[in-house]
Amino acid sequence: MNKLRIENVSYRYSNHYQTTYALREVNAQFQSGQFCVIEGKSGSGKTTMLSLLAGLDLPTEGNIYLDGKSYRELDRDKLRRKQLSIIFQNYNLFPMLTVQENIAYPLGLTGRKKGNWKERINEILESVGLSESMQKKFPGMLSGGEQQRVAIARTIASEAPMILADEPTGNLDTSNSGRIVEKLKKLSHEDGRCVILVTHDPDIARQADVLYRMSDGRIVEKQNAMDSGKTTDKIV
Ligand SMILES: Nc1ncnc2c1ncn2[C@@H]1O[C@H](COP(=O)(O)OP(=O)(O)OP(=O)(O)O)[C@@H](O)[C@H]1O
Ligand SMILES: [Mg+2]
Repeated sequence: MNKLRIENVSYRYSNHYQTTYALREVNAQFQSGQFCVIEGKSGSGKTTMLSLLAGLDLPTEGNIYLDGKSYRELDRDKLRRKQLSIIFQNYNLFPMLTVQENIAYPLGLTGRKKGNWKERINEILESVGLSESMQKKFPGMLSGGEQQRVAIARTIASEAPMILADEPTGNLDTSNSGRIVEKLKKLSHEDGRCVILVTHDPDIARQADVLYRMSDGRIVEKQNAMDSGKTTDKIV
């Protein structure tokens, strides 16, 4: 059982001209087996929060803990290689690698024997609604929605216990979006992974086990469907 905890986290972006307070005293908790959603309007701080959870930077104030260990003490490169799989808002596929190689890369990190790769890649591609014929293409030859699904396929391949996904269905039509959300829910409920998904889509937010609603850098509401019935805490 893995647990990610954000404690009193604030974050500001500063340059010569201005300082932006992107997160203000945020507290949240995510654990294995949960489909967690962070919902909020554009500019509310969702990507910033996910970037900190991904260990790309440290909070300006406060702490993030994985299983009780502070990110300030952990090797965050190792954390990203072993524990986390990230679907970025802009996909971040390797442009010089084919679809097959993009998915094979995390499979390599999982130590799977090479002989099983092809079969596993086909299986994963199918689960995100992409055909086998995609495999030899490069990301630049794909539509935005297709690239997004390759990014999701790469995450499925990684077998990392924590999945961080920034608007993973933003470029998809309703049926493909539904398929991806179902897949991510399965990864949490059946495989016991912790999925943290950022969205501004209320239909996806409604399906969360744990929902954090953000506004202006703060968490203003928490809903937990796992407690008896659905409980809502307004945090203002
Ligand atoms: N690199 C940066 N430098 C300065 N300010 C930034 C930077 N990145 C984000 N911000 C600011 O921090 C705040 C939070 O941004 P963030 O990207 O986390 O929002 P978001 O909720 O992910 O929005 P969206 O839904 O549009 O992706 C915004 O006010 C934004 O303008
Ligand atoms: Mg964002």
